[in-house]
Amino acid sequence: MKVISITNNKGGTGKTTTTLNLSAALSRKGNKVLLIDLDAQCNLSVAAGASKTAKHIGELLVGETDFESALIKKQNFDIIPASRQLLSYEYRINAEPDSGYFLQEQLEGQNYDFVLIDCPPSLGSLTVNALVASDFFIVPMQGENFAYVGLDEILQLCAKIKKRMNPKIELGGILLNKFDVRTKFGQMVHSKLLSDPNVKLYKTQIRQDVSLMECTAFALSVFEYAPESRGAKDFESLCEEVLLQTQI
Ligand SMILES: Nc1ncnc2c1ncn2[C@@H]1O[C@H](COP(=O)(O)OP(=O)(O)OP(=O)(O)O)[C@@H](O)[C@H]1O
Ligand SMILES: [Mg+2]
Repeated sequence: MKVISITNNKGGTGKTTTTLNLSAALSRKGNKVLLIDLDAQCNLSVAAGASKTAKHIGELLVGETDFESALIKKQNFDIIPASRQLLSYEYRINAEPDSGYFLQEQLEGQNYDFVLIDCPPSLGSLTVNALVASDFFIVPMQGENFAYVGLDEILQLCAKIKKRMNPKIELGGILLNKFDVRTKFGQMVHSKLLSDPNVKLYKTQIRQDVSLMECTAFALSVFEYAPESRGAKDFESLCEEVLLQTQI
C-alpha cells in the first residue's frame, strides 16, 4: 500500500483536482484506491458524490466512529469524506500529545494499493497527520508570486516530520498545474525549481483545461467526462510517472 498526500498550503493550486483525477487514472489501471478528504471545504467529497453522509474523517480520527462506518464505497474507489465541522475536530486532535499519528493509526492494516489524501490549504495538524501517514507527497503548484515561499514552508515541515515522526516521507514531486512559463513569475518560479537540489519536478505538466473544471460539477473524473481531453491525457501521463515511482 502506497499512501500519497496531495498538499500545498497555498489555496486553489489544484490539490483536489489532482487527487480526484490521479485516483481515477490509478483505478483504471486496476488499482484499489482509497480517497481521504482532509479539507473542511469538502470539495473532494462533493466532487466524488460523497458529501451527504452521516460519518466523516473527523469522527474517525478522534475515534467516534470506526473505519468501516466512515467509508463510502463508490464504483471506482472508496472514500472517507470530510465535514464542515472538521475544524473543531482538528482542535480536539491538537489537544492530544500524539496529535500527529491519528491518521496513520487508522490506516494501519488497511488493504489498498493506493491511498490518496487531499489536504487543506494550510500546514496545521491535519496536514501533519497526512504527511506522517504518507510514503510521499505531491505538491501541485502554479506559477504565481509566493508559490515558491509556500514550497519552502512545506519542505521545512516535511524535513521535521522525516526527522522526528516518519522517516520514509519523501517529496514525490512538484506538479506544475496551469503553469505558464511565459509569465514573469512563471519563469522565475520555474528556473528556481530547476536549480534547487531539494526539489523534484514531475515531467508531466497539467495544462489548463476546462474539462478539469467541469467534470467535478457532474461528480465525474475527467476520464469519464471528457476522455479525449488534454486533462485526461495529462493525468494519464502523471499516473504513469507515479506508477514508475512506486514500482507497482
Ligand atoms: N488544469 C486546470 N485547468 C482548469 N481548471 C483547473 C485546473 N486545475 C484546477 N482547476 C480549477 O481551479 C480551481 C481550484 O482547483 P482545486 O480545487 O483543485 O484546488 P485546491 O488546491 O484543491 O484548492 P483549495 O486550496 O481551496 O483546496 C477549481 O475550480 C478547479 O476546477
Ligand atoms: Mg481542495
